[in-house]
Amino acid sequence: MAAMRTLGRSELSVSPIGLGGNVFGWTADEATSHRIMDAYIDGGGNLIDTADGYSHWAEGHTGGESESVIGSWLRHRKRRDDVVIATKVSTKPGREGLGVDNIHAAIDESLARLGTDHVDLYYAHFDDPDTPLEETVAAFEDVRRAGKTRYVALSNYTPDRVEEWCAIAAANDFAPPVALQPHYNLVHRQDVEGPGNRGEVAATHGLGLVPYFSLASGFLTGKYRPDTVSAAAPAASARGGWVEDYLRPECFAVVDVLREIADAHAVAPAAVALAWLRERPGVVAPLASARTLDQLGPILDALDLALSAEESAALTRASDLV
Ligand SMILES: NC(=O)c1ccc[n+]([C@@H]2O[C@H](COP(=O)([O-])OP(=O)(O)OC[C@H]3O[C@@H](n4cnc5c(N)ncnc54)[C@H](OP(=O)(O)O)[C@@H]3O)[C@@H](O)[C@H]2O)c1
Repeated sequence: MAAMRTLGRSELSVSPIGLGGNVFGWTADEATSHRIMDAYIDGGGNLIDTADGYSHWAEGHTGGESESVIGSWLRHRKRRDDVVIATKVSTKPGREGLGVDNIHAAIDESLARLGTDHVDLYYAHFDDPDTPLEETVAAFEDVRRAGKTRYVALSNYTPDRVEEWCAIAAANDFAPPVALQPHYNLVHRQDVEGPGNRGEVAATHGLGLVPYFSLASGFLTGKYRPDTVSAAAPAASARGGWVEDYLRPECFAVVDVLREIADAHAVAPAAVALAWLRERPGVVAPLASARTLDQLGPILDALDLALSAEESAALTRASDLV
């Protein structure tokens, strides 16, 4: 069983890989989603990530689909205490932004869809430049004091805005955020690494990093190949358009190194990509999603796959060139 990790300065103990929930009710139907969550928990995972906005981008969807599917799973399986549930606010159509009234309404709607009286982590999904940050920070503290979330967390905030949030919380004696959710993977490192970047601000304020797009939307599984890539190829997946930025020789060179290391461990490239990310400084639990039970296999392998220092360094070197 994978060793659990403490999330930032919280008392939450989480598995070293979190399960992404944007597929639930989108590319994975309800029954498949339930089986994926069952297998993830049985395999040693405990962190399930969603947002009120998932999956509003899909035709005919309004947002809330993912939370509803997780909610029906929680009701059927009665496993609320076995999981750490994280959700987010700011992107659901009709519930956009981080104004106080919106946050108060959004958390109640999320809890109703999830069928629980509290979440463990409540994220500000995207910064809202149109609302004073003081208002947003105070509203999150209201939600926490009301017992509707155990902890507050941030996603997609710039280092400066994380600093501002923490300063406002400290000045008002509010609980500080415990996690930062950035875009981070082997072919997208610049947001997190380097002086003054998100990794540094997270370390300064004791926020655990919970990377998203850990598989670069599927690119790091190796299923997109240079020999088959054409303008049409990415459309093979519902999220194919999300990988177009990676269809470059430098990114395919990273996948070549992933394949070589994966073969040596008899696992899939996706497992190696997640194992590399899991051990980067400050990272607590990379998030990855599975559309099918088969796709979940490498995610479970990544919970305790140990790469050698040479293997990690080879991946880092290849990814330095991206
Ligand atoms: N905070 C934010 O702004 C933000 C943004 C994005 C995501 N997130 C969170 O992070 C989670 C992870 O991100 P993500 O799900 O968008 O991307 P991801 O984990 O990088 O990619 C997952 C996708 O890759 C494909 N895949 C996974 N395993 C595979 C395998 N073994 N073989 C082939 N294909 C495989 C599947 O898509 P297909 O089969 O459909 O190709 C799967 O849905 C999300 O679910 C969400 O909870 C947060």
